[in-house]
Amino acid sequence: MASAGSSTAPAVAHRVAPLRAGKGTSFVLRRLHSLSGIVPVGAFLFEHILISNSTAISGPDAYARQVSFLANLPLVFFLELFGIWLPIAFHALYGFYIWYRGDGNVIAYPWTGNWMYTAQRWTGGIAFAYIIWHTWTMRFTGVDLHAYPNASFGKVQSEVLQTPLFLFYVAGLIAASWHFAYGIWLFCAKWGIVSGDKARKRFLIVCVAFFFVLTGAGLASLTAFRSRPQQPIEPGTAVMNIKQSSERR
Ligand code: HEM
Repeated sequence: MASAGSSTAPAVAHRVAPLRAGKGTSFVLRRLHSLSGIVPVGAFLFEHILISNSTAISGPDAYARQVSFLANLPLVFFLELFGIWLPIAFHALYGFYIWYRGDGNVIAYPWTGNWMYTAQRWTGGIAFAYIIWHTWTMRFTGVDLHAYPNASFGKVQSEVLQTPLFLFYVAGLIAASWHFAYGIWLFCAKWGIVSGDKARKRFLIVCVAFFFVLTGAGLASLTAFRSRPQQPIEPGTAVMNIKQSSERR
């Protein structure tokens, strides 16, 4: 990691200290934190933005089918618990601890890696605020989308059609996408997967391109929600009932 607080911080961009053994529990936790950012948290973000939410571009029915597919995965609650919620909670809480422990000193070492180091912490913090709020409103309050997947498009619309909330979605999307994309670069540097200044510089370009792909796909989905009239949300409405019964057949 680009150790901003260390007096031996390298004066060259793209240099990242590998995770070293011999630091006891904290070494294991740092490795787990690093790995959890890729699998399962990063893998989930990839699926969520590039696959599931992109189906919204094809309209409410396609989106409902995707939500229904996810909701009907076997043992879905445990998949969510162990595959998403607990790993994100661990990665985020340990991430805040790393942030609190290190002194992100952007003034003493004004090189690119140092700004990236700071951005990695702030984008994690913004993504965290967004994830808490998004999970609470989409999964734990309002109409239950696992029981009524046809309400999904309308439920998302009820938020993104409000401009302040839409801007919050955009901020969360950009923060999470940057954090993940640059996180892939950090991960590969720390685990020795990409080594050498030249290779790291080239790989940084690939990761920045990936950031634009994620952000672009997310913005395309958000535009799809905003460009259609508000769809029904309440399970009792006629349209919902027709769709619900045709889905059961
Ligand atoms: C959107 C969900 C998230 C994803 C996909 C994600 C992914 C990643 C990845 C891939 C890394 C690089 C791993 C490494 O450093 O070796 C990373 C690093 C990091 N993440 Fe996250 N993360 C997420 C959320 C968060 C949150 C909410 C926080 C809370 C602040 C956070 C804090 C950090 C920190 C501090 C690092 C840098 C660790 C270091 O420099 O050693 N992350 N993340």
